[in-house]
Amino acid sequence: MKVEMNVVVCSSLLLLCFAASGNGQKSTSPAIETPAPSPATEYVNLADLLSVAGPFHIFLKYLESTKLIDTFQDQANKTEEGITLFVPKDEAFSSIRKPASLSNLTQDQLKSVISFHAVPHYYSLSDFRNLSLQNPIATFAGGPNFGLNFTDNAGTIRIDSGWTRTKVISAVHAADPVAIYETDKVLLPEAIFGTDIPPLLPAPAPAPAPVAEAPAAAAAADKGSSSSPSESAAPRNIVVGNLVMAIVGGLLMLSW
Ligand SMILES: *[C@@H]1O[C@H](CO)[C@@H](O)[C@H](O)[C@H]1NC(C)=O
Ligand SMILES: *[C@@H]1O[C@H](CO)[C@@H](O)[C@H](O)[C@H]1NC(C)=O
Ligand SMILES: *[C@@H]1O[C@H](CO)[C@@H](O)[C@H](O)[C@H]1NC(C)=O
Ligand SMILES: *[C@@H]1O[C@H](CO)[C@@H](O)[C@H](O)[C@H]1NC(C)=O
Repeated sequence: MKVEMNVVVCSSLLLLCFAASGNGQKSTSPAIETPAPSPATEYVNLADLLSVAGPFHIFLKYLESTKLIDTFQDQANKTEEGITLFVPKDEAFSSIRKPASLSNLTQDQLKSVISFHAVPHYYSLSDFRNLSLQNPIATFAGGPNFGLNFTDNAGTIRIDSGWTRTKVISAVHAADPVAIYETDKVLLPEAIFGTDIPPLLPAPAPAPAPVAEAPAAAAAADKGSSSSPSESAAPRNIVVGNLVMAIVGGLLMLSW
């Protein structure tokens, strides 16, 4: 397919080249010339790096079992885009709070959870201030349901996945095109783990009065729904996602 395309393009170009050669050979060269290879950025082998830092052995083990190590390394090799990885230390895996657990996820869900720890672009620590204005930031897990929210509070970078709130503990590696930031928690996506355990809410005084909850209860009753918050999370996210897509679509159309 690509070869065929190239043949077509080349034969069209040949005509142009012949036509142009009448005007002097030099006129054709500058535009067609391939750019000089950029000054060699140091190649970063993610697996090697993760195996000596941390310890990040559990994360690395998941990267390998899901084959995401190849996806991420491929992205790291794309020096013009790069990659930003949020890597939980080994001990973070043992402190995942019940009922969340990685052990009974399907392979696809596990892949989503691990993909959720990477963003397909290199971001230095100083980029997060601007990044926080664009929340939610898309991850490798894809789709509007798998975005991360960042806040930069005087240099402390917090990450909110809806289920997990954590922060960047340290920069393990931060040189374009590869950023690896250590986190003290595993990032659990709301889309898989639901919203029923909001962590670290500033706990507004629980409203025991049934009256206060009446509107929500009534709304739930209207739908004839006995579903848990986690079950209703997905549709809400999809609605929000569609809304965002509609807005983005509208903006794109406007900018034409
Ligand atoms: C990344 O680049 C290195 C060095 O050029 C190469 O050996 C490796 O196969 C590449 N990996 C992927 C997954 O593209
Ligand atoms: C996973 O297992 C835990 C207990 O280990 C359980 O509480 C939880 O509901 C299970 N989750 C799913 C999606 O089956
Ligand atoms: C952040 O955004 C502002 C305005 O949008 C821009 O002027 C500035 O260069 C950006 N800073 C970085 C570090 O990207
Ligand atoms: C992330 O930020 C967006 C935009 O501010 C907000 O709509 C969304 O609810 C946030 N998500 C989480 C999980 O905090």
